[in-house]
Amino acid sequence: MAKSSSRARHTEGAELRGKVAVVTGASRGIGEAIAAALAAEGCRLVLAARSAERLQEVAEGLRSRHGVEVLVVPTDIGDEGQSRALIDEAADHFGTVDILVNNAGMGIFGAVDELHLDDLRHVFAVNFFGPMAALQAAVPIMRRSGGGTIVNVGSIVGKFPQPLGGGYTATKFALQGASGAARAELKRDNIDVVLVCPGLTDTEFSQHSRISVPGAEHRQGERHSLGRGVEPERVGRRTVKAIKRGEREAYVTFFDRALVWFAIHFPALLQWVLVYITRYRRRRFEEADPSK
Ligand SMILES: NC(=O)c1ccc[n+]([C@@H]2O[C@H](COP(=O)([O-])OP(=O)(O)OC[C@H]3O[C@@H](n4cnc5c(N)ncnc54)[C@H](OP(=O)(O)O)[C@@H]3O)[C@@H](O)[C@H]2O)c1
Repeated sequence: MAKSSSRARHTEGAELRGKVAVVTGASRGIGEAIAAALAAEGCRLVLAARSAERLQEVAEGLRSRHGVEVLVVPTDIGDEGQSRALIDEAADHFGTVDILVNNAGMGIFGAVDELHLDDLRHVFAVNFFGPMAALQAAVPIMRRSGGGTIVNVGSIVGKFPQPLGGGYTATKFALQGASGAARAELKRDNIDVVLVCPGLTDTEFSQHSRISVPGAEHRQGERHSLGRGVEPERVGRRTVKAIKRGEREAYVTFFDRALVWFAIHFPALLQWVLVYITRYRRRRFEEADPSK
């Protein structure tokens, strides 16, 4: 499809009614909010996560509030076979997949020189390889139906390093790199690849993050000492807007965008701040585990 018609398809207010959207990590938090925002637009939905019961509750709520058709597919995104099977099941059920939202994800805390590599591999499986497998399964289906949108949920910390969060940051850097390349590669197929970069959001993310190095628990609490963050519903609405516009990258707040701008334009100053933060966190880390 020509560029102009591709833009028209994504102009604000573009019709999402009836589109088939697969949302991973839809059992709570940002994924649940994105699913709700898409349901409000009239999308037919496929919800994936590991907690089957919770997914059924979310699906029931969306059916009754928005009158949309919802399929639940319990899936472990960290298993590439299950990621591909999710897309196949969605396409078998609805005939196509128009939108894929790779949202499922988790954190990992610990210093880079001490992270257990098996923990890091697990987090890469969930945050990077699972989304890649889903993307690879979805693209041929979208090509056949003339286009679509793939949303990868990154993070503002996928833009700059995070002391004691380096493993997580690395997964989001990887996702961002693949997203940018895929966006260019898939343009001719009328497939938009959108990177959504939320900042701190009020979800259960920290509680479900992996503590790879004993003592790093305080990083969980520290996240919340920064404030509760934005409501996940705001990320959901921003994601729908980004899909409609076919945006390359989407930020949720002005503060997030400004922080990333600062990080990109003043890397030396950022490095200085990171050294300071690392010292502070290392001190907290040692207080939490005196054997360090
Ligand atoms: N919260 C933040 O401040 C923040 C900021 C920037 C980016 N993000 C990103 O936003 C996304 C959603 O995070 P959240 O804040 O909503 O966290 P959350 O409340 O912990 O939700 C994570 C979701 O992912 C699912 N999930 C986790 N591991 C999975 C697996 N192996 N297979 C399938 N589903 C899995 C969970 O469902 P089950 O447990 O049922 O499987 C849940 O639905 C993540 O990619 C995260 O990196 C979050």
